[in-house]
Amino acid sequence: MSSKFMLHMRGRASLAKCLQKTDAFLHRSIGTDVVIARAEATRSDESDEKNGRKSLHTLHMERQEQAERSVLISCQSSTNEKKFLKYLSKHGEINKYFFYESYGVYAVVEFANQESVTSLLEGVAIPGGSHESAVPFKSRLLSLRNLGSVDSSNQLSGRQCQPQTTIPINELIKRLSREESIDKQISSLTEAYQLTEENSRLRFLVCSLLKDIATAYFPECTIKPFGSSVNGFGKLGCDLDMLLDLDSITGRNVKLPKSGLSLEYQMKRANSERAVTQSILSVIGECVDQFGPGCVGVQKILNARCPLVRFAHQPSGFQCDLTANNRVAMKSTELLYLYGELDPRVRSLVFTVRCWARAHGVTSSIPGAWITNFSLTVMVLFFLQKRTPPIIPTLDHLRDLAGPGDKSVIEGNDCTFVSDFNKIQLQSNTETLEQLLGEFFEFYATFPFSRMSINIRKGKEQNKPEVAPLHIQNPFETSLNVSKNVNASQLDRFVALCQESAWLLQQSETSTPRGGGAGGEGAPTPWGLATLLLPSQVAGIKSRKKRRREPASERIKGLLESLKNKNQLKKS
Ligand code: GTP
Ligand code: MG
Repeated sequence: MSSKFMLHMRGRASLAKCLQKTDAFLHRSIGTDVVIARAEATRSDESDEKNGRKSLHTLHMERQEQAERSVLISCQSSTNEKKFLKYLSKHGEINKYFFYESYGVYAVVEFANQESVTSLLEGVAIPGGSHESAVPFKSRLLSLRNLGSVDSSNQLSGRQCQPQTTIPINELIKRLSREESIDKQISSLTEAYQLTEENSRLRFLVCSLLKDIATAYFPECTIKPFGSSVNGFGKLGCDLDMLLDLDSITGRNVKLPKSGLSLEYQMKRANSERAVTQSILSVIGECVDQFGPGCVGVQKILNARCPLVRFAHQPSGFQCDLTANNRVAMKSTELLYLYGELDPRVRSLVFTVRCWARAHGVTSSIPGAWITNFSLTVMVLFFLQKRTPPIIPTLDHLRDLAGPGDKSVIEGNDCTFVSDFNKIQLQSNTETLEQLLGEFFEFYATFPFSRMSINIRKGKEQNKPEVAPLHIQNPFETSLNVSKNVNASQLDRFVALCQESAWLLQQSETSTPRGGGAGGEGAPTPWGLATLLLPSQVAGIKSRKKRRREPASERIKGLLESLKNKNQLKKS
């Protein structure tokens, strides 16, 4: 019977247990296994296909609105799905729901109407008994209690689990090796890595849950995801970058009356805008730490160039970075999203290059002198602008196409560019992904990094204005270099790896399928893109040590050596 179920507020007491696990949790790649019980929402919105491409703004509005009508419920693996849904349906029609696994089974339930959430919350119990030390902060993160006997029929069983993190690299290599063309390998990689519909919904729901905390101080605020969670280049398991948007309160967009009486709020003043951002994040960070159900390992990193609060949201498995007053980053996100929507080859190539870079330690999850995913994406965009004919237009061209509503100046920086896809005319470049991948590696294997800067605004390399080994002009804050952190040895490794990969793709031994294709038994021999993901010969001492332990690397080592010998014979 449905009445056996009870929903409980998740409070601080259960958090305490989680805290013990936090350290380990933060240091390993955060994983969430999805258990899709019902494939209701697996495909992207049909309306998308009918109405053409959506602007990021529209996507944000739709997703935020869905998230507001949603709750996140920690279930038991013995939960009977039908009864669970029947119990919840008492509060109104359910639009969508799905289950996933992250330290237990969770359900995301989206009601058709906001009132259903209000009605549901009215009947939710406060944890009692052993939970008397719970912090009395109510949220839409709930726990399901089953007070009756366990019904074994139609349970949420582990068999329905689908991985929500990316598949391990070795498995990806096997999967790619079974494909029959490099183009298919690239599509397969994109398919395996991109965010799913559910993952995207969950990201917006986490933002919405955090907004509920922040609205205690700033009732008009919103919390928006930015970066790879929404720019189209996000890989399953990527961090969740969030922006606390206070624009409706800061008076930035308000026009003052020219005459007559008017009232204005008295507001406290701080020394600088940065100081205001720091104090807001400090307070919100404290609230998240003290009151936020499921938020663990909160760190306030307020002295960074861009102050932020970092924490893990345990129920979703997301590593979260909350920032404020970071409007340029939102513009960069919009720009990357737009480029990704213009031509499907953009996203596929970015995914492939990001995956390749991660496999070789060109990028890292730890901050340092490495190339960042953002820099790498800008490098791919620049390369695509340099094709003949170009695959994507320059940022200056996108600015020229902008309408009055697109105008945006942030702290003196011109961030204007067109938002209407229909105004953008693309040139007819028909290069295949295989060609583009090979050309990408050649392009950067021979790029004059010592003299030239990468500039997507102009779509042309420019003389380097400073001595940094790698100079990539920040698209909006044009006096800044987005890859300022990269040192010479990291750049050298990147170039050497590009040379090696370009060379590998030119060899018939590695650029054609190696047999053992689809349906074949055992591990297929890596070829094409799969070969490029295997440990490299130019990876440096550390990687060389690691390589000895990996059987796949021995294969490629032998393969490379035989190829190199052949090449030398040809030359001599
Ligand atoms: P991953 O998290 O690595 O998947 O990619 P990401 O694009 O989300 O990168 P990250 O989390 O490091 O940064 C989030 C967003 O902040 C990026 O997408 C950019 O919009 C912006 N950003 C990151 N680094 C820089 C930078 O150096 N300069 C500028 N202007 N923006 C940056
Ligand atoms: Mg990110």
